[in-house]
Amino acid sequence: MDISAVFITPTTLSEKVALITGGGQRIGANITRILHAAGANIILHYRHSRTEALALQEELHQQRADSVVLIQAELQDLQSLQSAISKALSVWNRLDILINNASLFYPAPVAEVTEKHWYELFDTNVKAPFFLAQATASALQKTSGCIINIVDIHAERPLKNYPVYSMSKASIAMMTKSLARELGPEIRVNGISPGAILWPENDMDEVTQQRIVSRTFLKRRGEPFDIAQMVLYLVTTQYITGQILAVDGGRSLNS
Ligand SMILES: NC(=O)c1ccc[n+]([C@@H]2O[C@H](COP(=O)([O-])OP(=O)(O)OC[C@H]3O[C@@H](n4cnc5c(N)ncnc54)[C@H](OP(=O)(O)O)[C@@H]3O)[C@@H](O)[C@H]2O)c1
Repeated sequence: MDISAVFITPTTLSEKVALITGGGQRIGANITRILHAAGANIILHYRHSRTEALALQEELHQQRADSVVLIQAELQDLQSLQSAISKALSVWNRLDILINNASLFYPAPVAEVTEKHWYELFDTNVKAPFFLAQATASALQKTSGCIINIVDIHAERPLKNYPVYSMSKASIAMMTKSLARELGPEIRVNGISPGAILWPENDMDEVTQQRIVSRTFLKRRGEPFDIAQMVLYLVTTQYITGQILAVDGGRSLNS
């Protein structure tokens, strides 16, 4: 293998197309930026964050014209999602990278869980990524592409008061391994489990934040860029599949 292939340049992913769900803000926006910086054209999915998605599209178009297409879809509505995807895929007529990043996160202690919570969390965090993988598999097969699922360290160790969320992330972790088996050898499927990267948008008190940070070995929160960098690594490497890599400053090893 040519050793220069391990260096990422602004053309490493040129001609390639990446679809990122929830790609308009927070961690998703950083994943979008890094894949775009490596040369990929972007299909950026958003649900409510139209303003942020448009601003990011504008920012990236200043670097490379016509390199970002936006699609709006509610991931719980499978039909509208699939029709949005097929429209988006027809823009460049190919897909190389699917990043299942979008996810719902809110507390629902056992006694308060309703069927609505159950369906919202499982439909968004498990069902949509699965059917997106199904809908894009033939396109990804043609390009020997890859899927990256954004999981969570709480797929393995449940987060207090978030049982259904934790179960949904355990499901997408197993989905990652199952799809690696089902979709190989053409498609690689991997997962990334972030630790504490960005605090949830609904407030989290400072004591809780400090407690979480103190349980990392690196004694600090990660940055969205740390997740994006791992995405880029998994996209460009060739012999890793079915793995879920924690990017958590060591937190998942702490008791
Ligand atoms: N933040 C962290 O520290 C952390 C820690 C562990 C794991 N993670 C994982 O990393 C990923 C990104 O985290 P994040 O904090 O950046 O995520 P986030 O802000 O909580 O959510 C990302 C996006 O998901 C989209 N989304 C949610 N429900 C949707 C639905 N039903 N249909 C369509 N889109 C939907 C939203 O898009 P719109 O805004 O357009 O509505 C939202 O912007 C997630 O998978 C998360 O579970 C994050």
